[in-house]
Amino acid sequence: MILPLSPDEVLSTTRAVRRRLDLERPVEREVLEECLRIAQQAPAASYRENWHFVVVTDAEKRAALGELWRKSGERYLAARRPEPAVDLPPNTQRLLDSVWHLMDHIGEVPIHVIPCIEGRTDGKSSALQASSWGTIVPAVWSFMLAARTRGLGTCWTTFHLAYEEEAADLLGIPYEDVMQTALIPVAYTIGTDFRPARRKPLETMVHWDAW
Ligand SMILES: Cc1cc2nc3c(=O)[nH]c(=O)nc-3n(C[C@H](O)[C@H](O)[C@H](O)COP(=O)(O)O)c2cc1C
Repeated sequence: MILPLSPDEVLSTTRAVRRRLDLERPVEREVLEECLRIAQQAPAASYRENWHFVVVTDAEKRAALGELWRKSGERYLAARRPEPAVDLPPNTQRLLDSVWHLMDHIGEVPIHVIPCIEGRTDGKSSALQASSWGTIVPAVWSFMLAARTRGLGTCWTTFHLAYEEEAADLLGIPYEDVMQTALIPVAYTIGTDFRPARRKPLETMVHWDAW
């Protein structure tokens, strides 16, 4: 089923979903394939479509990926933990609570999608890196938008990349030649109503003709 959302609504309400992922409801392969076909329409720096999507449905593999995600996420959050006496702004506290929630359930999310690109950017010039990342990001975002219109929630995450080699071993990804770029948890959302996020005023980030 496609939700009755305008293009602008889809673009402005595709949120990072963590707490409202339905962990019980299976996600149909055909629906994921529709989203991936849409992702294939994204622009790419090369005429070769050198992106790959590893779709993980296997429960044991998701649990193992979840362990890597959690291990890295806990370390990341511990390094940024404020002094106990400090009250965080409500938005930051909400975001942290939501990340902790996903940390507890990441292995149970019915689908993990790992977008990959052929060739590694380690040690490459920023221009070469820009081509690789600029090729994978639009495709993944298209996937996430297509998922949103079908009632699926996603969240761009990079925690597991601290253990990319372990994840490559687990999934048989040739680490030397293929770079993982994210882990996108995918599940139907609990309710489909999402609102645009509050953002900084446009004039603080738009520069007309000069910085
Ligand atoms: C490059 C990138 C990496 C991210 N990595 C993680 C991550 O590892 N774990 C996580 O919970 N969220 C991650 N996020 C999500 C952000 O923390 C943030 O919640 C999201 O981009 C904002 O979504 P919202 O506007 O819907 O709140 C990442 C987002 C981006 C763009």
